Amino acid sequence: MILKETPLPKLCGQLFHKIENRTARVGVIGLGYVGLPLADAFAAGGYSVLGFDIDQTKIEKLKRGESYIGHITSERITDLIRTNRFDAVCDPHCFANADVIIICVPTPLNDYREPDLSYIEQTGRTIRAHLRPGQLVILESTTYPGTTQDLLRPILEESGLKAGIDFFLAFAPEREDPGNAEFATRDIPKVVGGINTVSRDLTVALYEKVMSRVVRVSSTGIAEACKILENTYRAVNIALVNELKILFDAMGIDIWEVIEAARTKPFGFQAFHPGPGLGGHCIPIDPFYLTWVARKFGMSTRFIELAGEINTAMPRYVVQRVADALNEQGKAIKTSKIAVLGVAYKKNINDPRESPAFTILELLQERGAQVSYNDPHIPTLPHMRHHSIQLDSSPLTSDFLKAQDCVLIVTDHSAYDFSWIVKNSRLIVDTRNATSGCDVNGCKIWKA
Ligand SMILES: NC(=O)c1ccc[n+]([C@@H]2O[C@H](COP(=O)([O-])OP(=O)(O)OC[C@H]3O[C@@H](n4cnc5c(N)ncnc54)[C@H](O)[C@@H]3O)[C@@H](O)[C@H]2O)c1
Repeated sequence: MILKETPLPKLCGQLFHKIENRTARVGVIGLGYVGLPLADAFAAGGYSVLGFDIDQTKIEKLKRGESYIGHITSERITDLIRTNRFDAVCDPHCFANADVIIICVPTPLNDYREPDLSYIEQTGRTIRAHLRPGQLVILESTTYPGTTQDLLRPILEESGLKAGIDFFLAFAPEREDPGNAEFATRDIPKVVGGINTVSRDLTVALYEKVMSRVVRVSSTGIAEACKILENTYRAVNIALVNELKILFDAMGIDIWEVIEAARTKPFGFQAFHPGPGLGGHCIPIDPFYLTWVARKFGMSTRFIELAGEINTAMPRYVVQRVADALNEQGKAIKTSKIAVLGVAYKKNINDPRESPAFTILELLQERGAQVSYNDPHIPTLPHMRHHSIQLDSSPLTSDFLKAQDCVLIVTDHSAYDFSWIVKNSRLIVDTRNATSGCDVNGCKIWKA
């Protein structure tokens, strides 16, 4: 709901001016996969950017000019710091100096698969302690419709300042697609909704300086719902092709060839591809924010639940395919040497969050396999919230591949030479259709 407008406050005019002449100081809270590229985009757009994170190791790395995000180079960070366009800090006091504060903190699920909003709440309290008249606060973290108005706004207003009048508040969802070389942060249109018109217009003015296109919507709720719709659309469509993959396989039909044929239709069909299960911080998580809020309205989100059920079952299907493939060779999973190629949740990135590779490795270990893995982007398996597997990436040599009873392709990084992998392996289970077109050379390939 848009507030009834009061006369344009002087504070707002001052901030417009600063945004316009690029003297506004931009603060980014949460320097992860979203926050760091965003800070980079604002610095590139001529703004002075202050990054804040509670993770001391990240701040130290940035201060040393080191990047921890695959597609942002250390040279870039060094250059930004050297030219005083970017500084990284752990001290929240500095936010009193920022004119704009953008929140990019995590929004995971808790153990009961309910939204864990503690990061937004904590950040809200941190901002509140230093909030001053005339500042613009923008939430970018993905969340359920209503969060900016009903959760963040009351926390910030405990400062005694009134949202939309003393300070400005908006939601502008992040649509970053890490590893996608086609679309950098600034190339992805930015959707913006404010708690009132002035909040929205300030936010639009800001993003227009650094983004190729800004899409204004009528409220923060619309902007929040837009992002959840996008991610739910992906989750549901991926579930559809995952389910069809299993059916088509039983019918002796290759789903990847079917999709390639279907996508030649110039309208009404968008290609989604099956895989070993969902991964990443967004698609497996965000739709369940909507499921949770739907319950408050006495409703259920059956598509989301069903998609979750199908996608979550994929790692078990993959392991069953490995068992079948080994069985055909007179072997069992127990004691077999199985190497997983690729543990990042998708190709060409170093992000392992929610990756199905972890569940697959655990299921194989439970069945007594001797597992190993290779991932050029992830040298050691990090400790995850739900998984703790201690393994280092094995060098990908022909001797390593030849020693395996089965090579399981989970993530099809571009760094992999699949023809060479096929040439040096005895048995491959391929969850990504990565070996399509490779000369089989006596290697047995199963798709999964
Ligand atoms: N990763 C993606 O591809 C992607 C895409 C679109 C949207 N999003 C959304 O963006 C948000 C951030 O995701 P991300 O992938 O960047 O997460 P991330 O875990 O990579 O980064 C979040 C950062 O916030 C920091 N942090 C946590 N609490 C903090 C606090 N109180 N104060 C300051 N810093 C704090 C963490 O230390 C971390 O560095 C999430 O809501 C996510 O759903 C992510």
